[in-house]
Amino acid sequence: MPVDARAHAESLLGQMRLEHKLGQMIQAERASTTPDDVARYHIGSVLSGGGSVPGANRVADWVAMNDAYWMASMREEEGRIPVPLLYAIDAIHGNTNVLGATVFPHNIGLGAARDPELIERLARLCAEEVLATGLDWTFAPTLAVVRNIKWGRTYESFSEDPAIVASYAAQYVKGLQGALDENGVIACAKHWIGDGGTTGGVDQGDTACSEEELLRIHAAPYLPALEAGVLTVMASFNSWNKEKCHASRYLLTDVLKGRLGFDGFVISDWDGVDQLDDDIATALATAINAGVDMVMVSVEWKKMLETLHRLVAEGRIPMSRIDDAVRRILEVKARAGLFERPRPAERPWANSPTFGAAAHRAIAREAVRKSLVLLKNDGSVLPVAKGARILVAGKNADNRGHQCGGFTVEWQGARSNDRIEGGTSIWEGIRAVAANAEFSEDGSAADRARHDVAIVVIGETPYAEGMGDIRHGGAVPRGSGIQTMTNLAPYGSTLVLAERHPEDLATIQRIQAQGIPVVTVLISGRPLVTNAELDASQAFVAAWLPGSEGAGVADVLFGDHEFRGTLPFTWPKTDEGEYGRVVPAFPRGFGLTLR
Ligand code: BGC
Repeated sequence: MPVDARAHAESLLGQMRLEHKLGQMIQAERASTTPDDVARYHIGSVLSGGGSVPGANRVADWVAMNDAYWMASMREEEGRIPVPLLYAIDAIHGNTNVLGATVFPHNIGLGAARDPELIERLARLCAEEVLATGLDWTFAPTLAVVRNIKWGRTYESFSEDPAIVASYAAQYVKGLQGALDENGVIACAKHWIGDGGTTGGVDQGDTACSEEELLRIHAAPYLPALEAGVLTVMASFNSWNKEKCHASRYLLTDVLKGRLGFDGFVISDWDGVDQLDDDIATALATAINAGVDMVMVSVEWKKMLETLHRLVAEGRIPMSRIDDAVRRILEVKARAGLFERPRPAERPWANSPTFGAAAHRAIAREAVRKSLVLLKNDGSVLPVAKGARILVAGKNADNRGHQCGGFTVEWQGARSNDRIEGGTSIWEGIRAVAANAEFSEDGSAADRARHDVAIVVIGETPYAEGMGDIRHGGAVPRGSGIQTMTNLAPYGSTLVLAERHPEDLATIQRIQAQGIPVVTVLISGRPLVTNAELDASQAFVAAWLPGSEGAGVADVLFGDHEFRGTLPFTWPKTDEGEYGRVVPAFPRGFGLTLR
């Protein structure tokens, strides 16, 4: 760590009274926090939860919002010590809460691309679009190594293989943080640790495994991320052998900060502290003493702050722990150059016209091309000739919301073209280059006499977190914190696409019945059991959640670019089994080419 950052933090810490210190440890959600709150309670950080947006959700609205928070944090008043506020957002596949952002493929598609250099360019693009909105910090990269594709967050994972996740971690961090100057944003490796290993793939569930396995599989990607200097780490909702990660001094302090030498700060996940105990004081004392440095709170941040004061007064949290947490937070702010940055509205990247610009979209489109995995191509139906008479069908063919998935404009994703400004749906991308293409969503216009070939785009519709789980009802195993989400149903109870989305197979069969060869393109956040759809199609492409640049799919279907993606996850043949026991339809690493 640079000496001056350490010295700066130390000298500030020396001037701070208790209320200044404890305020730094709070991260409050924007909807429950005003700029005056930031000034009055010395709040260290504000976040936007998924879909929590200012004004009309334009770039300028974001800059103005953070400018107001930042100015409040820097107010020079009696009893205050100006410390620049950190504003955080989930820019996990572009700065996608914001209208008009460039949306690149979710991590699962990037895992198929096996291209670390591309990851660094995408992260850089993402940093620029975060900087354009005047913000400082993104909750990315997700380094989950997902071992059960029934988990609703599978698409946030690059791969089930820790080596593939690890091969991206440093590049992602470098692309975001850059040289830790005004051209970078702070990264956050999440969620420490074992988030992808829960039994049954239950969101926020229990990861039951030996320490050897936890470290070998789930900690592996953190090593290069730490090496690359990631400044923050988020604690995970899940438990490890029934102990919540947020409560584990061993995992947060002994392993992460001790053995692995992490010298940034640990942030808790969304109200994750509340899950530790029914009594909030006990919960908070447990988390802070375990090693949580900053507490992410949705609404009740005042109560959290009061509780923190009480716990310190009662000696339930030692002052040395508070000083350590605040020192870490101030050091991160100093190392990221926040003390030297002007107000958000005056930063060089604020309102940058590169936000959502063509040059960014070109990189995202390249990522789409590289992420496509060809699983079948009977009779060389691919590549399709641009002059062919093409029927384009399927519920995901002309829906930019669906192709972006969760964490896009809304927490649970968008469901239409108009919510995703800019970019192209897959149909729009095809239409732009194939003069004789016709669209019929349910395929009812299929006519052998008029169509040489069909491209049918099917699959899942958007979801995020536990609402993407595949499980039966709300029955969640003990050790899971999902009790807080029981009002929200899982995505379904089966990985079998024909059962979960029978309309897709119906569309394919309607066209197949006309004797027209079918190229199926699957939009999904994970591999699915697609035996029936594969059988009914001549060609089959896994396109994951490609994001806003649907034209990248046409680039490859028409042969202008090669298929080069390979499966980042085993593709299942049945709905049964955990990782390692999945009966594979295709193994990890599978992917055909057209040569
Ligand atoms: C998620 C985190 C996210 C946070 C803030 C939580 O529900 O688990 O990944 O960063 O919300 O939006």
